[in-house]
Amino acid sequence: MTTILVTGGCGFIASHFIRLILSQTNWRVINLDAITYAGNMENLEDVLSNPNHVFYRGDITDSKYVSTIFETEKPSSVVNFAAESHVDRSIIDSSPFLKTNILGTHVLLEVARQKQTSRFLQVSTDEVYGDAEGKAPRREDDLLKPSSPYASSKASADLLCLSYHRTYGMPIIIVRSANNYGPFQFPEKLIPLMIRKALTNSSLPVYGDGLQQRDWLYVKDNVSAILSALQSGHIGSIYNIGTGIDRTNLDVINTICDLLAEEQGEDTEKFRSLIEFTADRPGHDRRYALDTERIKTELGWSAQVSFDVGLKDTIRWYLNNQSWIESVTSGKYTTYYEDVYAGLKQDS
Ligand code: DAU
Repeated sequence: MTTILVTGGCGFIASHFIRLILSQTNWRVINLDAITYAGNMENLEDVLSNPNHVFYRGDITDSKYVSTIFETEKPSSVVNFAAESHVDRSIIDSSPFLKTNILGTHVLLEVARQKQTSRFLQVSTDEVYGDAEGKAPRREDDLLKPSSPYASSKASADLLCLSYHRTYGMPIIIVRSANNYGPFQFPEKLIPLMIRKALTNSSLPVYGDGLQQRDWLYVKDNVSAILSALQSGHIGSIYNIGTGIDRTNLDVINTICDLLAEEQGEDTEKFRSLIEFTADRPGHDRRYALDTERIKTELGWSAQVSFDVGLKDTIRWYLNNQSWIESVTSGKYTTYYEDVYAGLKQDS
């Protein structure tokens, strides 16, 4: 039986990946997660009793612990989702980003190399390319020009992985995904943050002019792409994953307001009037845009869920799971929130 090690398995995207693996294969999934603020066992409540899901609590930077897991479970593949992922947090303090995203990836690479793992899939991001404003959609071989400490840490991890492929012949595959959204996303990211704030009648903070563009990818589409890259991707290859459609942040926020109004039988102005422009995020990239020809032609993957359908489903999920939101937003999160948004208040 195939055994795979999934790191950061209690986080948003990885929990969807684990659910997909358990429903579509007979593989054993070894889930190694440190359970920091954004990783929650609640994200996997429905699969916790599945005998093919084995949970280890620990940090990917702990090489002794990682080695022990490899010796005990003998995974044939590693899928590295574990990461500090929130750009605003990396601007306040980049140390945990360097530690988990770079050193943690290095530990996994070293152990996987010693144990001769047959596949190592690194989950990366479109942010490694930096700002795509005025440029063609970014291709996998384009220059890396990350703007934030978060994006730099992910770019560093990508480079380490590629060097392990070139130097040691390690069976590396890298995927670079666009902005994800969907159920179980931690409410510090744009879409769940706006839903949560609109529901509590709080202001909706739009950074700068709100005309920055992002490619929004439904999380279930993303994890199906990651699974096909793991199963059929070429060793040493990088695959961009996105829908190819950009939207401005303001457009996304207005659509959230409209859909919430529709769901609750309210006037959309009730929510749109909460929009408040704040100072911009430092180093804020204006646009991310990915060329996804490679994954389409080599792996036959393309996004299946339109933004309107995915967003509607997501809003309904948050409306029906408000207790989840309350349980994942602890006192620690509140302090972080005050730190970020106090600094962004417009003077005028
Ligand atoms: O592009 C992939 C990346 O998407 C992932 O690699 C990151 O881990 C993930 O956090 C996400 O990064 P972003 O910075 O794009 O996501 P975020 O949800 O923080 O912000 C999306 C856009 O919305 C961005 O242009 C900043 C803006 N924004 C965000 C927040 C939280 C606001 O205008 N107001 C806000 O309060």
